[in-house]
Amino acid sequence: MNVGLLTGGGDCPGLNAVIRAVVRRVAASGGRCTGILEGWRGLVRKMTMPLTVTETDGIIGQGGTIIGSSRTNPYKNPDTDLTSARNHFESLGLDALVVIGGDDTLGVALRLHNDFALPVVGIPKTIDNDLAAADFSFGFDTAVNIVTEAADRLRTTAESHRRVMVLETMGRRCGWIACYAGVAAGADYILVPEVPVDLRRMIDSLARRRQAGKKSALVVVAEGARVEEPAHDGNLSHESLSNPRLAGIGPFIARTIEKQLHVETRTLVLGHVQRGGAPTTADRVLATRLGLAAADLVLRKRFGSILTYSRGVISEAPLTAENIAARSLDLDYYEAATAGFA
Ligand code: F6P
Repeated sequence: MNVGLLTGGGDCPGLNAVIRAVVRRVAASGGRCTGILEGWRGLVRKMTMPLTVTETDGIIGQGGTIIGSSRTNPYKNPDTDLTSARNHFESLGLDALVVIGGDDTLGVALRLHNDFALPVVGIPKTIDNDLAAADFSFGFDTAVNIVTEAADRLRTTAESHRRVMVLETMGRRCGWIACYAGVAAGADYILVPEVPVDLRRMIDSLARRRQAGKKSALVVVAEGARVEEPAHDGNLSHESLSNPRLAGIGPFIARTIEKQLHVETRTLVLGHVQRGGAPTTADRVLATRLGLAAADLVLRKRFGSILTYSRGVISEAPLTAENIAARSLDLDYYEAATAGFA
């Protein structure tokens, strides 16, 4: 059996651990694996590399993805001949395709499965932790640890200089990273996309803490947090070829605090540091479990399926629009985390 592997969308720590696990389990059953390079682009253009046990040895702790990734979506490009994906799948001698990606990448897998009977198995992947299929997605733990460490470091320098520090995290449509790291770092305020920003409430809250004697503060804001403010374009989309980009909410929040509280304020936009580097132990283990489970589904020919991760258990589910839908931050959790801010 020849099993193709493809990683699509933004990368995250743990992808190589998934690849390694799939390769090992398939090899143990007498099969082999082929890496499809750079996401769906690789299938459309027929770009591949062999994936052997030897070649994937030692990559469990390596960040990124050795087979590359892209946000290419053949269904969104009118120039793409969709049958090429099916034709290349056949001419490469593939028997199955393991697709590791978020809603967009898995959406293509679903359509190719429906339109061309492509035998696919999906693994949910999102650094933002915003997929319905997974309570926790590999890569999220790593990202949260990176943000928490940055926040801890910001706090000590903020205390020395009696400043406010604003830390902008990833999370274009959901606030899991900001909320988790914000709680872990003891942030004084947390802003997330799911709750429209109430600037007045934030300023009042920070002012009360200052009056009570607290001379520094840490505000954590997710990049997708929304402000209804005509003068602010920070949360507007800036077009890029593949993905709308967000920029500016952190600096905007910092400017607002400085202006209204008259306290020196600095911003750190953490950006792609959150997605780079080695995965944590928890992410390596989860990614490995998912890789092994995906290989098992392939070997049992359970195609048109996706793995879910709920309450610590990995299960098989049908690859449906519902199972690859987006998931917001649990608002009860946000309320609990921010109860002291009011
Ligand atoms: O979709 C995940 C994500 O990490 C977002 O949080 C972030 O806005 C985006 O990817 C960045 O994408 P890119 O790597 O294309 O700049």
